[in-house]
Amino acid sequence: MQNNIFIHSTSDVSEKAIIGEGTKIWQHCQVRENAEIGQNCILSKGVYIDADVKIGNNVKIQNGISIYHGVTLEDGVFCGPHCVFTNDKFPRSINPDGSLKGTSDWEVSKTLVKTGASIGAHATLVCGISIGKWAMIGAGSVVTKDVPDHGLVYGNPARLRGFVCVCGHKLPFDKDILAGLDDHSSEDSALLKCEACHQDIFIRVDDIRKLTNE
Ligand SMILES: CC(C)(COP(=O)(O)OP(=O)(O)OC[C@H]1O[C@@H](n2cnc3c(N)ncnc32)[C@H](O)[C@@H]1OP(=O)(O)O)[C@@H](O)C(=O)NCCC(=O)NCCS
Ligand SMILES: [Zn+2]
Repeated sequence: MQNNIFIHSTSDVSEKAIIGEGTKIWQHCQVRENAEIGQNCILSKGVYIDADVKIGNNVKIQNGISIYHGVTLEDGVFCGPHCVFTNDKFPRSINPDGSLKGTSDWEVSKTLVKTGASIGAHATLVCGISIGKWAMIGAGSVVTKDVPDHGLVYGNPARLRGFVCVCGHKLPFDKDILAGLDDHSSEDSALLKCEACHQDIFIRVDDIRKLTNE
């Protein structure tokens, strides 16, 4: 073990990858060249980290997940078991003339998962989107568009259903908040208080309006 880094003997980690102190890489993982993984991350069984991927500190990646080129995970992101990332919005194996596409014959669409966000088990993220800070994606969802900070989304296609606290609990939300917003439309965020951990959480007014429009 080097710098407190644990790499299971069945895993294949490129010498050109950068792994932060305290990170654990469990069975049958592959980490490709120039990938950068922060400190204290956990890669569970069967995780694939593509070339050049950047992962922050304290990130948990559960069993059987592939993080492809073009995907970035910020600090504290949670990836539930078997969730799916994509990086090619219109995939094809072959060109119109039937020849096999090469590595430069397609366009990478990026995906950014911001600090503290959680992705439920088996959710699929269609590429070209960003997942906001502390957002929560329900199990099995298909996420096709940006998720706001603290946004709770689920379903296929995933719709904005509410907002969650940093602790993960749903924030209380009712129509009175919306009525208040109409009166104070110049304010850019509204205060919601978590009933579980009692923290004050500010949610952008524009994001609350998205909830009422969905
Ligand atoms: C999304 C989630 C956070 C919602 O929790 P919640 O706010 O307590 O939701 P509820 O259980 O009250 O369900 C509300 C409604 O949404 C539905 N629902 C809940 N989660 C859903 C999901 N992932 N996909 C589709 N519908 C869902 C429920 O069936 C219910 O529908 P109804 O009103 O028609 O009865 C939770 O269901 C979830 O998916 N968590 C992720 C779990 C996970 O993957 N963990 C990974 C680590 S093991
Ligand atoms: Zn809370």
